[in-house]
Amino acid sequence: MTDLSLTDADLADLTADAVVIGLLNGDGGPSLAPGSETVDAAFGGRLLEALIALGGTGAEDEVVKLATLGAMKTPVVAAVGLGNHDGAVTDEAVRRAAGAASRALGGRSTVASTLALVNGDPSAGLLQAAGEGSLLGAYEFSVYKSKPAPANRRAPSAVQLVVPSTKDRALKASAKRASAVAEAITLCRDLINTPPNYLFPAEFAARAERAGIKAGLDVEVLDEKALKKGGYGGILGVGMGSSRPPRLVRLSYRGRGSKTKVALVGKGITFDTGGISIKPAQSMENMKSDMSGAAAIVSTMTLIAALKLPVEVVATIPMAENMPGSTAYRPADILTFRNGKMAEILNTDAEGRVVLADAIARACEDSPAYLVETSTLTGAQVVALGNRTAGVMGSDEFRDRVVAAGARTGEGMWAMPLPPEVRKGLDSTVADFANVGDRTGGMLAGGHFLSEFVTEGVQWAHIDIAGPAYNTGSPWGYTLKGGTGVPVRTLLEVLEDIAANG
Ligand code: BES
Ligand code: MN
Ligand code: ZN
Repeated sequence: MTDLSLTDADLADLTADAVVIGLLNGDGGPSLAPGSETVDAAFGGRLLEALIALGGTGAEDEVVKLATLGAMKTPVVAAVGLGNHDGAVTDEAVRRAAGAASRALGGRSTVASTLALVNGDPSAGLLQAAGEGSLLGAYEFSVYKSKPAPANRRAPSAVQLVVPSTKDRALKASAKRASAVAEAITLCRDLINTPPNYLFPAEFAARAERAGIKAGLDVEVLDEKALKKGGYGGILGVGMGSSRPPRLVRLSYRGRGSKTKVALVGKGITFDTGGISIKPAQSMENMKSDMSGAAAIVSTMTLIAALKLPVEVVATIPMAENMPGSTAYRPADILTFRNGKMAEILNTDAEGRVVLADAIARACEDSPAYLVETSTLTGAQVVALGNRTAGVMGSDEFRDRVVAAGARTGEGMWAMPLPPEVRKGLDSTVADFANVGDRTGGMLAGGHFLSEFVTEGVQWAHIDIAGPAYNTGSPWGYTLKGGTGVPVRTLLEVLEDIAANG
């Protein structure tokens, strides 16, 4: 991963391969953001003029590069658009701009960024955002490239954030935090991007175990025998169609001074063909990302251990491959879950809720105060909210707390209801309920199904990340193609909120 550090050296003396500055887009045209003064001086006070001549407007995701031709030690200046702002630039605008800059600076191995200075004095939050964006935008997944990318395309290997003083405790802590967050999201993205022939349930469990042990977590892995013994009929049912059997991973962390118990659950379908209710061939390859919720939970667990959060968290992570083999579960089958409830399977492609049912039931046996579950659960989420906004359901008050945490991190989240008429759609004539309802309110039906497995009294939230977890479009901000790392930063924010306020 890219290295992050602070520097208070004068920009004119820095020997980085590129300097990043901010360009604001105001009603009166573009203007230079604070932090770019030294660079402007090197250009004889004509930096803005040069950027405008090259088409710079300061719009989001715009990067204009200039050669300094000896005017300063650094050979390249990259001006990155911050968008239009009334007043202070937001943390998220800086995070995105820093990401866009890293993406545009392929081939420059050391980068000095002034983006922490765009509001004048660097706040801890802004510095963290600049760090996170720089590191996340420099993400590369090259495990399956037989040759490394050519040197002139490789992402920056070191980023220095320019600050007034490197002795500032709060700023130093923010830079450390940014590195920890980026490391967790890198793990999350790597897991998602790993192809399903390499990442199958047993391998995913082994990787989660390794990451957990390295982070100092307690780890428990249930194999197919243990799942049978434990009555995990949902996980076993979905896993039956594959020659590669399912797993249930439990990761536990207990921070010093923790008062509140939290359960995390994440969907780990290593590949979703739809099973017997098979999906169309078009875009099926994207279903390697159907373990994004699980990847986010594993990563969040390693992150809270690294940051030593004072909270007690147990993660319960079901892993299975949804395949249409001759032993696959079928429409009309009835499965019995860990908590004794039974569901009629009407569509084997609604498999996420089936594995999550067992996992949520197991998680609730520990009597947590809160339960947060996240999953690439429904295509309906993407239809309703698009690719960048997750749908959040659950206990009204806690659901809104999760949405508010999302707003603070810049990860888009929107509160969704669980209306009683949608629950009626899941009624079954032969079992307690069916795994799908009529077509309407598909995202909400998923939420209702999961709610059947949450014990009374547990405050819970379900985050449907079907769209936001995996970017099939163009890169933007700090988000590349492939796994995004959503909602790791929101989960961290929620856990910090709980650690601080109960
Ligand atoms: N993994 C999919 C949901 C999904 C769709 C994730 C698009 C990411 C992008 C899930 O298992 C699924 O197939 N859901 C079905 C549910 C339906 C059968 C009720 C869906 O959304 O079509
Ligand atoms: Mn499915
Ligand atoms: Zn799925």
